[in-house]
Amino acid sequence: MTNRNLDETWKYHNGTKHSFWSIRRNTYTLDWPNKPLPFKIYPTLDPIELPREVPQLETPSLEAIAATEIEVDGEAVPDLKDLVQLLYYSAGLTKSKQFPGGEIHFRAASCTGALYEIELYLVCGDLPDLKAGVYHFNPGDHSLRCLRAGDFRAVIARSTGQELAVMNAPVTIISTGTYWRNSWKYRARTYRHFGWDNGTILSNLLATATALRLPAKLVMGFVDDEVNRLLSLDSQREVAFSLVALGYSLSPLPVESAEIEPLNFETLMLSPRELDYPAMREIHAASSLFNQEEVRTWRAQTLVKRHPEPIGELIPLKPLDDSMVARDGVGPVILRRGSTRRFARDQALGFEQLSTLIHRSTQGIPADFLDPVGTHLNDLYLIVNAVEGLRMGAYVLHRDKWMLELLKEGDFRAKAGYLGLEQDLPAEASATIFFLADLGAILEHFGNRGYRAVQLEAGILGGKMYLASYAQGFGATGLTFYDDDVVDFFSPHAFGKSAIFLMAFGFSQ
Ligand SMILES: Cc1cc2nc3c(=O)[nH]c(=O)nc-3n(C[C@H](O)[C@H](O)[C@H](O)COP(=O)(O)O)c2cc1C
Repeated sequence: MTNRNLDETWKYHNGTKHSFWSIRRNTYTLDWPNKPLPFKIYPTLDPIELPREVPQLETPSLEAIAATEIEVDGEAVPDLKDLVQLLYYSAGLTKSKQFPGGEIHFRAASCTGALYEIELYLVCGDLPDLKAGVYHFNPGDHSLRCLRAGDFRAVIARSTGQELAVMNAPVTIISTGTYWRNSWKYRARTYRHFGWDNGTILSNLLATATALRLPAKLVMGFVDDEVNRLLSLDSQREVAFSLVALGYSLSPLPVESAEIEPLNFETLMLSPRELDYPAMREIHAASSLFNQEEVRTWRAQTLVKRHPEPIGELIPLKPLDDSMVARDGVGPVILRRGSTRRFARDQALGFEQLSTLIHRSTQGIPADFLDPVGTHLNDLYLIVNAVEGLRMGAYVLHRDKWMLELLKEGDFRAKAGYLGLEQDLPAEASATIFFLADLGAILEHFGNRGYRAVQLEAGILGGKMYLASYAQGFGATGLTFYDDDVVDFFSPHAFGKSAIFLMAFGFSQ
């Protein structure tokens, strides 16, 4: 089984690392006339226009991102109004800005390079005001397009090895990644971005589902070919990456149709020319699951993480309690979120604010690869530049104790800037959080599929941190990094781990 051929992940991961020298040797320049379209457009399909009035969603953001389970009494079936909120607050167009090269539409969730390579599709049964079908969501015209009429949920349920949440879901949202749309700029590293950029979308989606009182579960275990076939994807160019089962229905799934016929709908070309980066297709193939049995085995065991005992000074987090915490609603916070472009170097965050951000964002994710008590695959390491009540230095989070362990004290502003690919943002931020993972253990447990899971989880946690920041009135941005230098900086504690993601936080300049 290719999922167990772990050399494939190491080949991809090591081959797409950034380093001081890889950046200096890089002669690649952006081909602007060849920049890909940010939308998938089916020119021959009629749009089902969605209502433009999207309700505000006033459930407090900090409450919504921390929820891990929604209990319902009876059925929870979303209607079209709910779907509009789920789609708009996770992938909708929320702002536009003029640049010398033209106008860029920004979306509800952050995305590397604002290239928006993640597409959303729905597979649903009959809903109160939407007929059963397979639909594509186009944020460009805020519409759905029906790709298949009829109830295909049993196909998805089968592809997940009859995962319970999917079997009971009136709707499953499928996220796909389109290689070229992001590799135009980031080349083969784009496969990592699939996880990050899908993750920020899913953090918003999960928070919105919580606000709508809809159960939601992220499912990473599925037979890739079956899902790709249902959406009729050209899997050399676009592939299914994650599923989210939404809602709860008591009606049994209809018996599935025997054969899923290919669709032949035209889609607009993304660019005059597309370049192929085989390394991404190879890691995707190597992390694919091929049948239900493989999916079930994949999902069967929980990863037990080793927590090394702290040896440095321990500082308990000081999260604000419910009576003190900001109560800004999910909808308004998502609408005002953006990636901070300059941090105010002189304005420190409070330790309570940073603690609240960490505490609320890391309560757990309802996912088939995580246990319910909320163990994460990523470990959080911090560089603190300016946080009132916390000394400057490097720390690691002991999530089981809600404490930070001081690894080394000192002014690491310049180092943070260097580690974040020599950008000013992490040097000027009040604090940066580095996501590191014991990739060896994760791959041993989950096979190559664990690589998708760890990148996606980082994106979800990062997306929650964006919302936790904007809910509390300060800013955040995702960042890329020099892989091995990050691990070296946090070693010996981080020895043997891999750098997965990076976020910076502070007040906006
Ligand atoms: C995973 C991730 C990595 C990012 N890396 C960088 C980065 O290295 N430098 C940077 O200036 N912005 C970075 N960004 C911010 C994006 O450029 C930004 O999200 C995008 O332009 C969309 O804008 P918005 O977040 O304001 O909606 C990153 C964002 C994400 C989600």
